[in-house]
Amino acid sequence: MIHELTNPVTKTLVTHLRDQRRDSVRFRHTIAELTKQLVYEALHDFALSKKNITTWTGELECKTIDEESIVVVTVLRAGIPMLDSVMELLPEAIAGFLAMKRDENTHESVLYYDRLPSCKGKTVLLVDPMVATGGSMIDALKLIKSREPSRIITLNIIGSPQGLDVVKSAYPEVDIYIAQIDEKLNDDKYIIPGLGDAGDRSYNTVE
Ligand code: PRP
Ligand code: URA
Repeated sequence: MIHELTNPVTKTLVTHLRDQRRDSVRFRHTIAELTKQLVYEALHDFALSKKNITTWTGELECKTIDEESIVVVTVLRAGIPMLDSVMELLPEAIAGFLAMKRDENTHESVLYYDRLPSCKGKTVLLVDPMVATGGSMIDALKLIKSREPSRIITLNIIGSPQGLDVVKSAYPEVDIYIAQIDEKLNDDKYIIPGLGDAGDRSYNTVE
C-alpha cells in the first residue's frame, strides 16, 4: 500500500528540496526532517512494549517501542541522511547498509556493498529518498525479503508513479510511506519535476 503524506509542512519541505539554491548541508537537513515526519506516520500503529526505568521519583513502568525489533536499512549514498534521522529518533534500532549505483546507460541498479544485519522476525524500515524506475527498491526488497523480516516498510521522499507501481506490483505486502509522488520520468529516468540527483545534491558531486 502506498501512503503519500499530505501535511502542508511536508509539501513545504519538499519545495525547499527542489530549490537549487539549497546547499548540501541544508539539503541533507531537510531530508532528515522529512524522514522524521515519515517515521511518525509509518509507525503510528506500532505496538508499544513496557519497560522499567528510573525516573526522578523512582522506578516506573513506561511504554516504549521495542527499538531493537527495528532494522533500518539505507541505500547509499543518498539514503545516509535518512538513516541518521531515524537513528536519532530510535537510537537502539539496528542499522543495515546496501550500496547501489544506477548505471547511467542502462538505468539499472548495481549492488556493490551488502552489510545487512539479521532481519529475521524484525520490522525493516528501508530508507531511500528517490524511487525513479523502482529498480533499486526492487533489488533491495529482494535481498531484505530473503532475510525473513516480519514486516517491511519503505520511507521515501519523492517517487514517480511508474516506479511506485513497479514496486507495489512486485511487493504488495510492503507499506510505502512517501512525502511526494511526482509526475513522471524523463528519458534519462530522472524524476520530473523531482530534485535532480539526490546523492549529488547531498554530497556536492556532479556525475
Ligand atoms: C538514487 C536513489 C535510488 C536510485 C533510484 O541513487 O538514491 O537509490 O537512484 O533510482 P531507480 O528507482 O531508478 O533505481 P543513485 O543511483 O543516484 O546513487 P547515489 O545515491 O550514490 O547518488
Ligand atoms: N536518482 C535520483 O537521485 N534522482 C532521480 O530523479 C532519479 C534517480
